[in-house]
Amino acid sequence: MILITTAGKVGSEAARLLAQRGASVRVLARDPEKATALRQVGVDVVEGDLDAPATIDAAMQDVTSVVLVSPAIPAQELNVVDSAARAGVAHVVKITSKAPADSPIARQRGQARIEAGLIASGLGYTLLRNNFYMQNFLMLAPAIAKTNSFGSSAGAGQVGLIDTRDVAAVAAEIAASPAAHVGKTYVLTGPELLSYADVAAVLSQVLGRPIVFSERTIEEDKQAMMSVGVPEPIAAMNAHAVSLIAEGDAAWLSEDVPAILGRPARTFEQFATDHAAAFS
Ligand SMILES: NC(=O)c1ccc[n+]([C@@H]2O[C@H](COP(=O)([O-])OP(=O)(O)OC[C@H]3O[C@@H](n4cnc5c(N)ncnc54)[C@H](OP(=O)(O)O)[C@@H]3O)[C@@H](O)[C@H]2O)c1
Repeated sequence: MILITTAGKVGSEAARLLAQRGASVRVLARDPEKATALRQVGVDVVEGDLDAPATIDAAMQDVTSVVLVSPAIPAQELNVVDSAARAGVAHVVKITSKAPADSPIARQRGQARIEAGLIASGLGYTLLRNNFYMQNFLMLAPAIAKTNSFGSSAGAGQVGLIDTRDVAAVAAEIAASPAAHVGKTYVLTGPELLSYADVAAVLSQVLGRPIVFSERTIEEDKQAMMSVGVPEPIAAMNAHAVSLIAEGDAAWLSEDVPAILGRPARTFEQFATDHAAAFS
């Protein structure tokens, strides 16, 4: 049995892919109602909370592999690591990001703590160190649909954007057959470096109408995120992370997705085409 710790973007798609290939897969969800579609494709959806170790222990029954993905609050993910160790789980695939222990971004420092805890646990592990997600642009989609424009403090900085469906596909592949991946760290990116102006050009071409990118300040970015419901401290942290793109912080690419999946990573054009309705 493979346990996926949340039913968000990466977790849901990884669960769907594993069920599709006939693997036994379980997802822990705070609200199982939200994961009804997964139940319909054969995923065992169990109610639980990463803040409640007893619920994690219950979900860990008969589990051999874990995909550890969540908002990456260290206490919660370390609860999963402890539970996996108690249950004698063989392998954990950890979804992470660029995570220097001295990063100015609290989430990245938290990821570093989680990675260290996982490595120290003695469990088999694989780290998936992911660049920014294409799906972050879905947060901007309602504004793009309305105004044909979007702004960011990323400036002219480039990003190796990755589609969360590819992150999920890599996580599913490794969770199903961990042997060749134990102790490894993979860097997951899309196939190309794009600036936000490049993103606007791709959206314009795919949507068939001009989409304009404008530079804005970190504070304006934070306010825009709060206006779509992101809590203030998270919006501040995310806006800071986006502003570092202007300094080249996300300008990295890797061939790990095609190497593991045997097919190219999705392009931003593919992402935009698949989600065109959200931007229209
Ligand atoms: N965004 C990026 O650009 C980026 C880049 C690199 C790495 N990452 C990493 O990717 C990970 C996030 O993955 P994602 O995008 O798939 O997440 P996501 O779509 O934001 O989903 C998060 C999920 O966690 C669930 N959750 C939150 N708190 C929980 C709790 N206490 N107990 C159980 N479930 C809980 C949420 O459930 P509810 O529906 O109940 O809230 C939701 O299903 C993080 O580690 C992040 O650092 C992100």
